Amino acid sequence: MALPPDVMTQDSDFEIFLATFPGLEPVLAEEVRLKGFKRPTVVPGGVVTRGGWADVWRANLWIRGAGSVLARIASFRVVHLAQLDTLAHRVPWAAFLRRDIPFRVEASCAGSRLYHSGAVAQRIATAIRDTLGAPESPEAMVMVMARVEKDVCTLSIDTSGEPLHKRGFKAAVNAAPLRETMAALFLRQCGYDGGEPMIDPMCGSGTFVIEAAEIAARLNPGRDRSFAFEHLATFDAEAWARMRAVTRARPAGIRCHARDRDAGAIAMSQANAERAGVADITEFRQGAISELQPPEGPPGLVILNPPYGARLGDGGSLVPLYRAVGQVLKARFVGWRVGLVAQDAKLAHATGLPFLTPGPPVPHGGLRVTLFHTGPLA
Ligand SMILES: C[S@@+](CC[C@H](N)C(=O)[O-])C[C@H]1O[C@@H](n2cnc3c(N)ncnc32)[C@H](O)[C@@H]1O
Repeated sequence: MALPPDVMTQDSDFEIFLATFPGLEPVLAEEVRLKGFKRPTVVPGGVVTRGGWADVWRANLWIRGAGSVLARIASFRVVHLAQLDTLAHRVPWAAFLRRDIPFRVEASCAGSRLYHSGAVAQRIATAIRDTLGAPESPEAMVMVMARVEKDVCTLSIDTSGEPLHKRGFKAAVNAAPLRETMAALFLRQCGYDGGEPMIDPMCGSGTFVIEAAEIAARLNPGRDRSFAFEHLATFDAEAWARMRAVTRARPAGIRCHARDRDAGAIAMSQANAERAGVADITEFRQGAISELQPPEGPPGLVILNPPYGARLGDGGSLVPLYRAVGQVLKARFVGWRVGLVAQDAKLAHATGLPFLTPGPPVPHGGLRVTLFHTGPLA
């Protein structure tokens, strides 16, 4: 089908949007750049790069800090619903979607003459049904996203499906787990690249220690899960199988250590590490912060998120706990760097640790958390 000039579609080189937590976009951009994607640009809520479908698969497989990867398939100017109807019918949906796979559409509108997102979603869904014949279902794994901003409608496909923090190994979680994507970006902000020891003295379900161990072992975060892009017309199963089969040599001898005073948390995070395939380079031990000792070997990174208070509903003051964290780390962890994730800056400063300028507060399950980090402790 010849495309009219008013519908711009992209195939071999299109915009790829990697969504992340507001505030952490530059950290994600750094990861995307280091992993070889083209000219990553920070935009609100994510990072934009360009590439083809193989880059989309690679981004889902490799990138630790993205919550989802969107492929931008078309964009056009639109000012009323009848025009949207016409233009949405001209998008070559069969190039992207399969007629045998259910789809759903989500829309949002901002600063545009089209303001009713429900009507926009419905017009686009109708165009897909009419032109492709694919079934629409609210539970569909394949989601088309329409964003109408300043009278320009951008159509994207969410190529991830289940959010990417679901790596596929964490069966057990405790009361207040960090998302794997956020943990990976905080590790990166602390300068962790897998080449040094790390310890999480309050590991909970083990998010930091497992992410760190995977980084050390050079395991791809998406190695063990499925993605929505496997259900698109653009999918090439053989090429994908070759891409995901590539493994890199694991350096020996690096250990990631986890402690928690709660025996249940230790058992849970150990089971999660086993499922993730990093049991051989992780070590878990029950113990309170007061008993914490540095593991043998060179200094590295201590990273933790102590109880927040508000979320775990402790009621009492957490100042003594944070103060104890600071005392133990200053006395026993000379040469180590510290990353501490806290909701309350006053609690973080109760540690007395020499924090550098903190990162921005990042939304996390109804709270806003901040990474406070230090250089090597003197
Ligand atoms: C907010 S949770 C950590 C969540 C973890 N980062 C995750 O992603 O699952 C805080 C943890 O600190 C542990 N904890 C609380 N007080 C402690 C203490 N005095 N010594 C060691 N661990 C403690 C709790 O058992 C809990 O697992």
